[in-house]
Amino acid sequence: MADLKTSYLGLELGSPIIASCSPLTGREESLLQLASAGAGAVVLPSLFQEEAEAEELAASDLMDTGDDFAEFASAPLPTIDFSEIGPSRHIDWLRRAKQLVDIPVIASVNGSRVGDWARYAQMLADAGADAVELNLFSVNTDPDESSADVEARYLQIIETVSGRIQVPLAVKLSQHITGLSSFAGRAQQAGADGLVLFNRFYGAEVDLDSLSLESRLSLSTPDELRFPLRWIGILRAQRPDLSLAATSGVHSGLDALKALLVGADVACTTSALLSRGPGHLAAMLRELNTWMDEHDYESVRQLQGSMSAANVPDPGEFERAQYMKVITSSL
Ligand SMILES: Cc1cc2nc3c(=O)[nH]c(=O)nc-3n(C[C@H](O)[C@H](O)[C@H](O)COP(=O)(O)O)c2cc1C
Repeated sequence: MADLKTSYLGLELGSPIIASCSPLTGREESLLQLASAGAGAVVLPSLFQEEAEAEELAASDLMDTGDDFAEFASAPLPTIDFSEIGPSRHIDWLRRAKQLVDIPVIASVNGSRVGDWARYAQMLADAGADAVELNLFSVNTDPDESSADVEARYLQIIETVSGRIQVPLAVKLSQHITGLSSFAGRAQQAGADGLVLFNRFYGAEVDLDSLSLESRLSLSTPDELRFPLRWIGILRAQRPDLSLAATSGVHSGLDALKALLVGADVACTTSALLSRGPGHLAAMLRELNTWMDEHDYESVRQLQGSMSAANVPDPGEFERAQYMKVITSSL
């Protein structure tokens, strides 16, 4: 048996495969199954900025009511039961998850605008999260907002959230950032301890029967791993001290292995677990272990990053040379 331990965001993990955000990490039964299958950590379903803002709005409406009606102004404010509204549900679930499993539990917040919702990241951290993952998901449609403006907005969110929490912060990004190498450095300066690459975007779909737009969830395929592999290979060489997690397309132990070889600290998986069940994570670890035994690797740490851009004979393979080779070889 190889040693599968790894470090991620300064946390010591027993294995390098993380169950990323999905309904599986939001229910007791599947959470326990993931932990007993050997997940290195779990990321709980995201608390969305919109949920936090809805709670703020509910509270401020109540205040306004008091202002508007003089007869209520001197009366004590009624207490509101927030347990049915998003944030409290997330905080309660986080506390429960921490009682249920003894692996690191990472809370997730999902937002795209700077705002007071960042304090919910602090509440999750205060409730016992071992780290916070910030998912910067936005479709940037403002014609007056340049890509530099978008990056500045993202950096401001990172700074705000990291300033609020005492635990490590990972930032989950989409691959639609123009200058990712530069952004990675600036994200680190703004307080990110790690990057999670890459978030999946769900595009628009047209239902031709009802002539309406529909939002349909599709699971990933292993092919999608190629984008995280490229960028983790490049960023590992540039930023040795930044934690890197691969997400999108990790379906097997060998997929996780590829991510580790190019320099990921951990590989995150969701679609494979949703389609094959939480127990698939144990099969992934077995596959990783078997490969390592067959190739005489004693530990994950020994192989991590051995194929990053810093360690392959031609780092250009990660960039344009690979593109030229693929295109010209198919002519
Ligand atoms: C049903 C479902 C729910 C998800 N919920 C979240 C979420 O709440 N927050 C988040 O950051 N990502 C969420 N994701 C994205 C996953 O965490 C993961 O990053 C993505 O599915 C890519 O990984 P995969 O190829 O292993 O599926 C969700 C994905 C699925 C399929």
